[in-house]
Amino acid sequence: MIQATLDTLSHYASFFFHREEKLMDAFNYPGLEFHRAEHRNLLQKIAKQRIAAKRKASVKSAKKLFDELSSWFCHHALLQDIAFAPYIDDTEKAERIAREGTAECLLDLTVEHKESAACRSSHVEVEVEAAVARVL
Ligand SMILES: [Fe+2]
Repeated sequence: MIQATLDTLSHYASFFFHREEKLMDAFNYPGLEFHRAEHRNLLQKIAKQRIAAKRKASVKSAKKLFDELSSWFCHHALLQDIAFAPYIDDTEKAERIAREGTAECLLDLTVEHKESAACRSSHVEVEVEAAVARVL
């Protein structure tokens, strides 16, 4: 379960960060390179945890990682992601860029969950399908 969760997190975070960086690039955000490095560092941390979880997964280490990731995402979203908002001067353009590839990513995640018996959950599938419907 921990391994499957980390796989899904890695997949979605990669997609999400790439999309965010594409938006920042499209709007000439001066903090893009710093922001990209922050994303890359987190993805590397998740990758290390995926390797560690393959060797030995424990509830204690999963809880510690959850706390670290929660803290990282709160800090990142509230301070760094929000700093980009003033640079978006065309919301239609931003929405168009943000939608590119979103449905495909969410569908990939659905397939991953269906293939993972440990994560088979109708609740997750319903949430992903609803998210796809909102995007399309
Ligand atoms: Fe970000």
